[in-house]
Amino acid sequence: MTRRTLLLGQSLEFTRNPMAARAEGAPPEDAARHLSHAGVLIEDGLIGAFGEAATLAARYPEAPIIDYGAGLILPGFVDAHVHYAQTGIIASWGKRLIDWLNDYTFPEERRFADPAYAITLAGRYLDLVLANGTTTVASYGTVHAESVTALFQAALARGMAVVAGKTCMDRNAPDWLTDTPQSAYDDSARLIRRWHGQNRATYAVTPRFAPTSSPEQLEVMGALWAENPGTLMQTHLSEQVEEIAWVKDLYPKARDYLDVYETYGLTGPGAVFGHAIHLTDREIAHLSDSGSSVVHCPTSNAFIGSGLFQAARLAKAGITMGLATDTGGGSSFSMLRTMAAAYDISQLAGTPLHPAELLWLATAGAAESLQMQDQVGTLAPGSAADIIVLDLNSTPAIAQRAQRAGDIWGALFPTMMMGDDRALRSVWVSGAERQRQPDSRPAAAGFIAR
Ligand code: GUN
Ligand code: ZN
Repeated sequence: MTRRTLLLGQSLEFTRNPMAARAEGAPPEDAARHLSHAGVLIEDGLIGAFGEAATLAARYPEAPIIDYGAGLILPGFVDAHVHYAQTGIIASWGKRLIDWLNDYTFPEERRFADPAYAITLAGRYLDLVLANGTTTVASYGTVHAESVTALFQAALARGMAVVAGKTCMDRNAPDWLTDTPQSAYDDSARLIRRWHGQNRATYAVTPRFAPTSSPEQLEVMGALWAENPGTLMQTHLSEQVEEIAWVKDLYPKARDYLDVYETYGLTGPGAVFGHAIHLTDREIAHLSDSGSSVVHCPTSNAFIGSGLFQAARLAKAGITMGLATDTGGGSSFSMLRTMAAAYDISQLAGTPLHPAELLWLATAGAAESLQMQDQVGTLAPGSAADIIVLDLNSTPAIAQRAQRAGDIWGALFPTMMMGDDRALRSVWVSGAERQRQPDSRPAAAGFIAR
């Protein structure tokens, strides 16, 4: 028997990519449709239908209804670049990238040699992100294969779609945290066979970044990725100027940083590059031509002092982009906090992102960057029922500002800029409600388009 539930509230639907629209001179908000009385039908863990509340209620009279009133029903957030194993060292003070890796990150990642520690942190991490409305993440593991097993198992227990890969690194890191080209290949291949495509798991071939992989290791990573169609490839690109200079020393023949990855077959559809801040025109052209995607990690870029991501420049080049926390270089588990940071950085870079663009980056854009747009990131029928409901009046400060809103974007923007986990009224994963908060502020406050 089909199990159905009908959720009612307001909602938003993208008709196209608002960043692409803006790059063509169209208003980004025209790329989305606001439904003030929306219905989302959950059917056996998937989205069965999405549309006007009255239409769906008439079509499915037997479906139990949960009415969220003025709550904003959205797809769960997709966090396209994280290091779950850095949960324990988030908010570590005062270092730039290379010192931050050596002093804080590598010692913490060493602890994941203990599978019991990995299991504890994997569960803790996924519960933290779920409380913040993130229902899909793409995570790096540590160099230890068991760290990836722990995350996939924790995701399976929660019904979550997760992308993960064993971090491969065979040089410029302590002996106790390095592998070899052969062991990196063997461990990754074993994990692909065990996990890729099982339930909601996707494997990503994961060389950490050019400085910690020898040319031999990047070569086997390229071969492994080519041998396993449907897997992703994730790595870091052009995050800090010191890192770029280091790559130039290590790979003197490369035309630029991206050329290192290009040389070893690590660009193309399914290649996901974190950060991508200090890019040359040639790198941008190749990212675009090859169909690679880029993930913006704004809290991290501010926290580690990396620089200003140029969203408008990359959008003009037609590059697929997503948003991410980059936990624990990033300073938050919340995609709302991350949207606020993306807005701040876009202001500093000269082109403020519209709330429609911010929402796109955190949902459909992030899903596209992971080639998962048919599964997550939208409320389109056939997608997984990974759904959140936002309370747009979750604190007095937000409510008093939202009250003045003239449209849905004005109502949503204060939550983007000032909201946190208190804004999550409900979080659904694979059609099961994982948590719900009571509606703290009923209809009176805030924008309600009804
Ligand atoms: N570059 C290589 N490894 C890392 C990492 O763990 N975090 C960040 N932010 N950048 C990196
Ligand atoms: Zn990272």
